[in-house]
Amino acid sequence: MNNPSLPSRRRFLGAAATALGASAFPAGLRPALAGQRSAPPLPLADLAPPADPGEDYWWKVRSQFNIVDGMAFMNNGTLGPTPRVVADEEARIYAEIQADPTNGYRRDELHERRKIVADFIGAEPDEVTYTRSTTEGMNIFGLGLDWREGDEVLMCTHEHNGGIEPYIHARERHGVQIRWVDVPVPPESVDQIVSIYEDAIGPRTRAIMVSHLTYVTGLRMPIRALGELCARRDLYLTVDGAHPLGMIPLDMGDLQCHHYAGAGQKWLMAGTGTGVSWIRRDTMGEVWPLIGAGTYRVDGERRFREDSRKYENTGQRHVPSQFALVKSMEFQNVIGRELIASRVRSLSDRLREGLSEIPGVKLWTSMGDELAAGLTLFSVRDLPMENIQQAILDEDRVFIRTMSTGNLNAVRASTHIYNMPHEVDALLAGVRRIAANPAAAM
Ligand SMILES: Cc1ncc(COP(=O)(O)O)c(C=O)c1O
Repeated sequence: MNNPSLPSRRRFLGAAATALGASAFPAGLRPALAGQRSAPPLPLADLAPPADPGEDYWWKVRSQFNIVDGMAFMNNGTLGPTPRVVADEEARIYAEIQADPTNGYRRDELHERRKIVADFIGAEPDEVTYTRSTTEGMNIFGLGLDWREGDEVLMCTHEHNGGIEPYIHARERHGVQIRWVDVPVPPESVDQIVSIYEDAIGPRTRAIMVSHLTYVTGLRMPIRALGELCARRDLYLTVDGAHPLGMIPLDMGDLQCHHYAGAGQKWLMAGTGTGVSWIRRDTMGEVWPLIGAGTYRVDGERRFREDSRKYENTGQRHVPSQFALVKSMEFQNVIGRELIASRVRSLSDRLREGLSEIPGVKLWTSMGDELAAGLTLFSVRDLPMENIQQAILDEDRVFIRTMSTGNLNAVRASTHIYNMPHEVDALLAGVRRIAANPAAAM
């Protein structure tokens, strides 16, 4: 079946092939991209930023990715490119295990590295679980609670299936009710969002499930304020954090939620099959493991572990990807979490400010960083989203995705640390051209 978020393979490959030809490069871009191609992989320590990092520094960061030359990739909101050091780590562990399978689980090494994962999200090591995806993490919590018939969960209409579906299962199996809330696009304020959730709380509401950043419009939800609301009303707060992990600094202690699940393959750029789930220490006793595993032997009896490893035993795992997850955190730690967040912010601001000045463009994402971060959703007049995506890819060599959730007809751009300002400008130039002459994109 065709995935509507992707342009046809034939046209994509055609565009990529053209992009490799020097004649396809905008004049100012060619030398820099040639430089990128020849840059050797650097030891992590060499990526430490100078006191005032300028574009030279960001070219150095960019040089550590194997992105197709001439292609501005702006969809790591779906799957991010992997820095070479991360891909090398995964390949190294894979080769080692193939050569010597005597210690294929590498449990002790991974357990030691749990501290790096925990520090990365402001948590304790015994609260974090290595997962294979956000979906797995969301299921750990959503299917792990003891639901009673008639219990209710609140969620907004822009949630992703990865977060929704555990509650569809809970509905079918245990009679849980889902109450949907509509959050305006874009909303007016944090207070407005919190009131919408608060007004929807009923006598049987037990939990709120919410994305930290919605995948649809990139709305940044006020997790801490929702956490305070949940604390006041004695509700669980479970957060789908597929996007923020690797995009903005996270501190579980500060967020005031009970559970948080993140993706490794998106903004962390750790590759597929990676993720993290966190459950607050005082809540773990209320959440069962997702599958029948995770016990260990105490005095001859099998008992549940009393830490986050009880959610982790899913049989033999793809261990190299878990090492890659940790390496991607080390990669980001060297650059600096605040610096990454500010670079993402500056590229996104550049894009949103540019889009807001183009007649005929509707911006669905809020300006500023209180209600937005690295994802930007927009429409160009009423043009079909696929046409916009394809025209931007063919003419401007920028890859963005389409978005039809909630009856939208829009396109979404992710701007991350391997993107450069001239790529944002190339996207803006394409949108300007299409908005000025929509007939050409029909
Ligand atoms: C908000 C959100 N939640 C969950 C998912 C599912 O992620 P995963 O493939 O890691 O399960 C996605 C993927 O795009 C997403 O955007």
